[in-house]
Amino acid sequence: VHWTAEEKAAISSVWKQVNVESDGQEALARLLIVYPWTQRYFSSFGDLSSPAAICANAKVRAHGKKVLSALGAGANHLDDIKGNFADLSKLHADTLHVDPNNFLLLANCLVIVLARKLGAAFNPQVHAAWEKFLAVSTAALSRNYH
Ligand code: HEM
Repeated sequence: VHWTAEEKAAISSVWKQVNVESDGQEALARLLIVYPWTQRYFSSFGDLSSPAAICANAKVRAHGKKVLSALGAGANHLDDIKGNFADLSKLHADTLHVDPNNFLLLANCLVIVLARKLGAAFNPQVHAAWEKFLAVSTAALSRNYH
């Protein structure tokens, strides 16, 4: 993957404004609410029975932070995204058996969180760079499925 200087700058400027805890929580909560079949993977998380329960769930919050921190590591290793996500790809494929289509759903939820938070700063150029970053990251996460 080739990154232009503008794309790199856009990705890192967005990343600097991300709060891994609150934005991660919101993105994961949106996933679980809007695409409720994704709840099947989180049966150990306790009460996911309503949007209010999902938003108040401490395990959702903690896990959202983990997921966004992992994405942040990718944002800081743009020249080796495949390597950055290699172990996580194996985990999601071989151990967790997560359908990889769900990665894109979570990526879309995160774009909504960022757009709402950053407003006009999330302009078309920044949005395009961030979509590319998420597409490359989710492809890397899907790599060890066979
Ligand atoms: C675990 C990252 C998407 C389901 C994890 C962990 C990370 C992570 C860092 C913790 C690994 C560990 O503890 O060693 C990501 C990233 C994603 C993504 C970066 C996409 C951008 C998804 C999606 C689902 C999912 C879409 C399901 C719909 C799970 C589950 C676990 C997990 C069930 C184990 C949770 C637990 O029991 O603690 N993921 N994930 N992940 N992920 Fe993902």
